[in-house]
Amino acid sequence: MDAVELAEQYGTPLYVLNADMVVERARAFQKAMAKYYPQGEVIYASKALFSGAVAKLLKETGVSIDVVSGGELFVALKAGFPPERIFFHGNNKTPQELEMAVKNGVGTVVVDNWHELSVLNEVAGGLGKKQKIYLRVAPGIHANTHVHIQTGQEDSKFGFSKKDIVEASKKAVQSESLRLAGLHCHIGSQITNLDSFYHTAKIMNEIISEIEKELEPYSFKLEELDLGGGLAIAYQPEDPVVSPDEMIAAIYRALPNPELKLKVEPGRYLVGEAGVTLYTVGSSKEIPGVRKYVAVDGGMTDNPRVALYDAKYHAVVANKANAPKEEKVSIAGKCCESGDMLIYDIDLPRLEAGDILAIFSTGAYNYSMASNYNLLPRPAMVFISSGKAELVVRRETYEDLLLRDLAIRE
Ligand code: LLP
Repeated sequence: MDAVELAEQYGTPLYVLNADMVVERARAFQKAMAKYYPQGEVIYASKALFSGAVAKLLKETGVSIDVVSGGELFVALKAGFPPERIFFHGNNKTPQELEMAVKNGVGTVVVDNWHELSVLNEVAGGLGKKQKIYLRVAPGIHANTHVHIQTGQEDSKFGFSKKDIVEASKKAVQSESLRLAGLHCHIGSQITNLDSFYHTAKIMNEIISEIEKELEPYSFKLEELDLGGGLAIAYQPEDPVVSPDEMIAAIYRALPNPELKLKVEPGRYLVGEAGVTLYTVGSSKEIPGVRKYVAVDGGMTDNPRVALYDAKYHAVVANKANAPKEEKVSIAGKCCESGDMLIYDIDLPRLEAGDILAIFSTGAYNYSMASNYNLLPRPAMVFISSGKAELVVRRETYEDLLLRDLAIRE
């Protein structure tokens, strides 16, 4: 579809999501899973991008969903997502959130720590239910990715330490209102190295054997294994890509058991490359011999990933897509902060105010991490499917910014 027309019709900044690509990628994951683990399950990590439309789109594909807060759970339920296909994660779920999950019939709660193990047992007991759970373990893996998105190492706020997991399993098995069905781990995000998945699977298998040995008196078997998400996407045209098939094949090499109920939780892979953000170019500042800044009408408010993780994005000028690249520029946002940058040093056609800049691979962790810093209203989101555009989240208005402000009422 014509990005310039979309920008004209819906305004900028604008999140544009290729909904057909999201469905294709969900199916590719399901196909890879079915090939190696016919009883496996693909779970979408909703933190990557979530709204009613996203929930409804994914519900139709048959993937399950992972939520990490009462808020994500609320949206999933409101969108009609079947509760038994919801997995509830998080390192500090409140008693209220746990109660909400158990009451609504959430299929699996992924218990992160000792405190949660006893709170959830009490909550489920109080509601007269037996809640299915996994235990999350930090397998002691260093994924080769940005330190802020590594989660599998021993020094992590997430999950039981390896040395505690056998005891925790024993406690879970003895908990009257809990049913321990499996283990979970997630080693990090934006992972291109297949060895990381292979080694994680190996380590988790060792942990499972140890647990089953220790819990033999309870004739206990772990039925399910959830290895989390993390499959990388391409941000730059030259970035290496790994397919879902290669990811699941790497796991299968470590765990060649087609009966295993394997779960994986891709977030970024399903939605990242399906997203493009459109901006309108405004002011610029050239510092001879230093740098040329060109500012757009969004920034760290709609995409904080550059400031947070040093993320590198690629872009084209939508209304000059075939024009020769004539200058090296850096794309700045409009927030009052020097770190508010979207791209450093990109070769583009000469930019003028009014041009439409399209930044690629913004589908994951952009909309979901957007803020109202400087009280910028958050952008709208448009779905593209079969050559048609549909507005699925409207642009925030200035009035929206005052919705919860009790001091100003007109
Ligand atoms: N499962 C669990 C338990 C997770 O914590 C995550 C991501 C995923 C699955 C999905 O991972 P993915 O397939 O999307 O890599 N805001 C950061 C990413 C944080 C990821 C947090 N957990 C970023 O923008 O890069």
